[in-house]
Amino acid sequence: MNQPSPASPINHGGAIDAAARKYGIPAHRWLDLSTGINPVAYPVAEIATAHWQRLPLSSELDGLKHAACKYYGVPDTQYLVAAPGTQALIQTIPYWLPDHAELSGIHIMGPTYGEHARCWQRAGHDCELHETAADNRKARARDILATATPGTVVVIVNPNNPDGGILPPDDIAELAALAEQADSWLIVDEAFMDCQPGFSVCPMIYRLPRTLILRSFGKFFGLAGVRLGCLVTAPNLATDLSDRIGPWAIPGPTIEIATRAFSDTSWQTETRQRLAADGNRLDDLIAAKTSLTRSGTTDLFRYYDGTDCAQLADHLARHGILVRLFDHDITKVRFGFPGTTTDWQRIETALDQW
Ligand SMILES: Cc1ncc(COP(=O)(O)O)c(C=O)c1O
Repeated sequence: MNQPSPASPINHGGAIDAAARKYGIPAHRWLDLSTGINPVAYPVAEIATAHWQRLPLSSELDGLKHAACKYYGVPDTQYLVAAPGTQALIQTIPYWLPDHAELSGIHIMGPTYGEHARCWQRAGHDCELHETAADNRKARARDILATATPGTVVVIVNPNNPDGGILPPDDIAELAALAEQADSWLIVDEAFMDCQPGFSVCPMIYRLPRTLILRSFGKFFGLAGVRLGCLVTAPNLATDLSDRIGPWAIPGPTIEIATRAFSDTSWQTETRQRLAADGNRLDDLIAAKTSLTRSGTTDLFRYYDGTDCAQLADHLARHGILVRLFDHDITKVRFGFPGTTTDWQRIETALDQW
């Protein structure tokens, strides 16, 4: 169990600026494999000028919410809050949820996306980061909720970033039921769920009154820069948070792009197939050229294990390729997937010289 410090800086993937300074390679020349963002983005068609010139209409936001609910399997838009990125929700929830319930303690199932612990701590809550592995994460969360004092919050990232551990919906529903019985809360961050939609608990939200589900638009659709994230939760909570976020938090161009992307089922199917194939291709490459072993997987990133991870990351960085190392374990490295033939050739060439 660790106590994260709110002041300690969090290393994130995508820190090309810092890598450019450290290795003396200009930012635009890097191949960034340090994130779990799909490198082949949903094609952004031309945006009507009106979306830049006027405020978004409430009918357009409604359209986005309908499309998001259909895509996420959420039964009705009254369960959904749209926000400018999941990160904005992660930052807001620790200040907002206490208006609905007295909170007693926050338990984060780690190691995971560092912003969860940091944001709860910054808002002044008692926060414990529990060291778990994919195979004991559910048991730890269940133990906490089974003995929880009212107002306990358990945060679980599913599938987990970075180890890819994933709990099936029935397990999450079991934890959600325990949270409800204990007058407590379950937060499920499904930012990386898009490749395994059958594992999402969004369709069950009508029977999970003490559960908050986070979804990120940017990762699977490869458009992290448009800034869109959704919270799926009970209607009274969703209405209150939507009211507080206000009418124009999602820019018109974002609404336009995301509404199309959520509705484009053929792009989604093709993309899931391509990402699955790319993950296998990366595994084959890593197995052939390094001594790393696969430790965790989603179809948006791979997590590998090896004693020479730091040296390999340094070697790749000298070739202008950024991968993700972790403070919690120096024997782990996370790779996103290359998106173009040239990018695949780049990583192959760099690994040939390893
Ligand atoms: C698990 C997890 N949740 C949420 C986020 C934030 O995503 P967004 O781009 O939607 O703010 C990230 C970003 O890396 C993440 O890894």
